[in-house]
Amino acid sequence: MATENHAPGLATFGQNDDFWLFGYGSLIWKPPPHFDKRVPGYIEGYVRRFWQASEDHRGTPEAPGRVVTLIDRAHWETLTDHHEPTERVWGAAYHIPREKVAEVREYLDIREINGYSIQFTPFIPSSAPSTPIQTLVYIGLPSNPQFLGPQDPDELAAHILKSRGPSGENREYLFQLEEALRGLGEGARDEHVRDLVERCRGIEAKEGRKEVEGDVVGERLKKVGSTEEQEEVEK
Ligand code: BEZ
Repeated sequence: MATENHAPGLATFGQNDDFWLFGYGSLIWKPPPHFDKRVPGYIEGYVRRFWQASEDHRGTPEAPGRVVTLIDRAHWETLTDHHEPTERVWGAAYHIPREKVAEVREYLDIREINGYSIQFTPFIPSSAPSTPIQTLVYIGLPSNPQFLGPQDPDELAAHILKSRGPSGENREYLFQLEEALRGLGEGARDEHVRDLVERCRGIEAKEGRKEVEGDVVGERLKKVGSTEEQEEVEK
């Protein structure tokens, strides 16, 4: 089922200790503070794409990077895209205990600045019981100024490779997303993400940058533990 934006429900969401947040981007590998449960799984009715400009984390206002957003499947069908959609958008849902909801909401709302809005959608846990859970999710809607729409994959890969912002290299975001999705299980593969990684590797190989599989990402993951993990939230 696609997104429903119940803004009126927002004030009460989580009051029954049922505040769940769905992460499909950096939240998969950079969890929110204070969560007490993390559940891998998926949502349906959306397509994940690197179609959101990032001026605050993986780019700058002068040279925006590219981060993921979700596109409602019905809207996606009206667009011309280079990649086939996946039926499910895999990610992780985080439960936030009632007493921490206000603090976590405040922390997360910073993410809205660069064009993301709050929506609600059912999430299906990958392991039993797979009862749907209502989750809050941040989506850069097509109406937000940072939404770019369909991108040529070669140009997109090249753009990602040359972009960086306060949270680090755009390339690192893409590679970490792919790695985090692999960590969720075989079914969690996202062809759009995988294809962009492959194109980036192809460009780097052509440019003569030597990379033993995993080495560069591995190095960068070590860095995350020190400063980047403490940085402000990002998409
Ligand atoms: C995420 O799922 O990681 C996310 C996406 C957009 C805004 C904030 C977080």
